[in-house]
Amino acid sequence: MATGNSDSFSRDYLDSLLIETRYMNSDTPSTEFTLYGETFASPIMSAALSHMDHFMFPGAADSLVRGVVAANAVFWYGMAPDEDIERFAAMGARIIEIIKPYADRERIYKKIEHAEKLGLLAVGIDIDHGFAEDGSPCICFGDPLRTLTTAELADICKASKLPVIAKGVLSAYDAEETLKAGVQGMVLSHHHNRIEFAIPPLQALPNIIKVVKGSVPLFVDCMIQTGMDAFKALALGATAVGIGRPLMAAIKNDPENGVRDYLLKANQQLAKAMAYTGCTDLSKMDPSVIHFPAR
Ligand SMILES: Cc1cc2nc3c(=O)[nH]c(=O)nc-3n(C[C@H](O)[C@H](O)[C@H](O)COP(=O)(O)O)c2cc1C
Repeated sequence: MATGNSDSFSRDYLDSLLIETRYMNSDTPSTEFTLYGETFASPIMSAALSHMDHFMFPGAADSLVRGVVAANAVFWYGMAPDEDIERFAAMGARIIEIIKPYADRERIYKKIEHAEKLGLLAVGIDIDHGFAEDGSPCICFGDPLRTLTTAELADICKASKLPVIAKGVLSAYDAEETLKAGVQGMVLSHHHNRIEFAIPPLQALPNIIKVVKGSVPLFVDCMIQTGMDAFKALALGATAVGIGRPLMAAIKNDPENGVRDYLLKANQQLAKAMAYTGCTDLSKMDPSVIHFPAR
């Protein structure tokens, strides 16, 4: 891996966290999860992937959708033509669509209108995708992108009938600005290494919790690979987690059932960790079961 790879810092941080067990008065836990008024089997969701058919093979995106629906989880997806989102919705997915910060802001509004018509669960914008490798505005698959101002995001939130989520928040500053703009959720993420030496999302979480104070859900992705990783994130105060690249590997291994099986196994691992720590439902997650490395 290249020096400063943010994935490896995130992985190391997750692996540095230990848990204490609490068996007395514990019970078989429930992982039932409610988000924006709808109930799901688990707080473990797909991360906002995109271009599955381009990076993998034709039909890979549908494999992802089928698996997430079969696991009764929230389906997040990223950059995609409207027809794809329509097809995913018709397959029964409860979708959170992450829209690019298109330089042509009208496109963002049109995408949100389309999402509203389809009755998606929520929409979001990956606020971290404004810049290219040299700090100039990013062009993504031919589309010019541009970083948002707080005022622009506020206008978008005002116009949207769906909850708007900011994806790519890793600082108290961005948490404050996006909250001021009116977002109804944040994804703590470095978007698989958009910048090197990014703070692991879980390390950023406590400072962001101080800003948000429970007012909006906080989602975490980046190197969440198992139910134990999910448990650590949830115990530290995340509302739910997203899994990205491991689901691509699961599709490759078994296009039919790979994603469903991966998510169900991760949820079992989460349930085990909850049972062993006395966290019998998601409202009983407790940061004091997590032990940080001695300094
Ligand atoms: C192939 C691929 C496509 C992605 N496309 C998007 C996207 O369109 N929008 C977005 O916000 N994030 C996108 N992401 C980032 C993921 O949502 C997620 O933040 C990242 O992969 C970290 O999670 P992971 O370590 O579980 O893979 C993409 C990631 C991958 C691997």
